[in-house]
Amino acid sequence: MKVALGSDHGGYKLKQVIIELLTNLKIDYQDFGCFSDSSVDYPDFARLVAEQVAAGNFQRGILICGTGIGMSIAANKVPGIRAALCHDVFSARATREHNDSNILCLGERVIGPGLAEEIVRVWLQTDFTGGRHQRRLDKIKDLEQHFAGGTKIEGQSC
Ligand code: RB5
Repeated sequence: MKVALGSDHGGYKLKQVIIELLTNLKIDYQDFGCFSDSSVDYPDFARLVAEQVAAGNFQRGILICGTGIGMSIAANKVPGIRAALCHDVFSARATREHNDSNILCLGERVIGPGLAEEIVRVWLQTDFTGGRHQRRLDKIKDLEQHFAGGTKIEGQSC
């Protein structure tokens, strides 16, 4: 498995912790930035990582900002991405089993490094259950296709 990593300045320190964890677990990763704690815009890094995962160059992605919220909103705009914001281990396991999430989002300002490491470990090691959950993912794909190119309101694209 290859993991694409990204953060903004708000997630930069926690990303270093996750890099150390992936190194210890011998999991292949690439860091798509940012590379310091200077202020940057999280959608730029969400886009870089999400495009890599959607293209199949990386099987999973991990995105970290201050809250994890901005990263998850931005990453989920990329077709094929199922980004899950998880700050507990139960959700990390459930989103792999039920949603086959391919990007994990974390907030450095929300949780400590120990819990973040456990969440990453569980999220990376849990398989998708399939079955009825696949039917639901197919419906999400239908939604993506239906709204591709923008929402239509009164015959206009917006
Ligand atoms: C940056 O200050 C902060 O807004 C960002 O890291 C993130 O929390 C956005 O959702």
